[in-house]
Amino acid sequence: MGDARKAGVVGYPVNHSLSPRLHNYWIRQYNINASYEAFPVEPDKLEDFLRKLPESGFAGVNLTIPHKEAAIKFLDEVNDFARWIGAVNTVIVRDGVLIGKNTDAYGFIQNLISGNRQLTGKDVLVMGAGGAARAVCISLLGAQYKVTIANRTKERAEALAASLDNSDIKVIRWDELENSLSETSLLVNTTSLGMKGQQPLELSLDNLPQESVVTDIVYNPLVTPLLAMAAKRGNPVVDGLGMLLYQAQMSFYEWFGIKPEVTNDLREHVLQGLR
Ligand code: ATR
Repeated sequence: MGDARKAGVVGYPVNHSLSPRLHNYWIRQYNINASYEAFPVEPDKLEDFLRKLPESGFAGVNLTIPHKEAAIKFLDEVNDFARWIGAVNTVIVRDGVLIGKNTDAYGFIQNLISGNRQLTGKDVLVMGAGGAARAVCISLLGAQYKVTIANRTKERAEALAASLDNSDIKVIRWDELENSLSETSLLVNTTSLGMKGQQPLELSLDNLPQESVVTDIVYNPLVTPLLAMAAKRGNPVVDGLGMLLYQAQMSFYEWFGIKPEVTNDLREHVLQGLR
């Protein structure tokens, strides 16, 4: 066997990341000669860190806050999809070259379809218009959904919609959100509301059909106030942990050539890192 290959997650700060727990589970399961660590790297050291990856024996790295957008200019190649999203979450070292990709959109849609949840229609209401919303909207439009964006700051939603330039996307005001729920078959929260340490998302779901699916990309806590409220009234819910697991599945495949399984045991193992 050759030298161990390295991988890791690069962020600042990065000590709470669940990615080492997740990838090291698969490294053990598939008996790969590799390691995965968290690397705190300050923004002004990012270029240098990335440039040294080939000579340091890296198969690649994940990028997280605040590096996902900034890294694009430091990479040798960035695929069209990551450029379209405007963010790289996976760097692959191939023949000494740094390649940037984005597996977040894959993670989002794969998480949604993995539980065989039947959506009653194609109408999706996305709350939020930040970087996460952009990846989510691109993945939904690619899967032929019709997307409505509601964001506290409407101009930001309009800018996002304009940049996506797709007739299947429209924008409503934040205060129109509750009325629009009657036409919604999938409700997605991409705002930071409901995250540990943040305000909950104050929203009445009274107008939402009971069979409509509700999902949150926040996974800490696993059951956000939005998901708890939806589950209580009988809506199917999809938590955000699966998105993390599935984006990691594709990163792992890019580095090691094995598409690892996302199982309940893995979910449990990763969840222990949240407790
Ligand atoms: P990310 O890139 O992770 O998506 P972001 O760019 O900071 O993060 O976006 C956070 C999202 O949460 C935004 O849509 C933000 O709304 P604004 O564009 O109006 O700032 C939304 N958000 C944050 N706090 C909010 C609040 N108190 N009420 C409603 N939306 C909020």
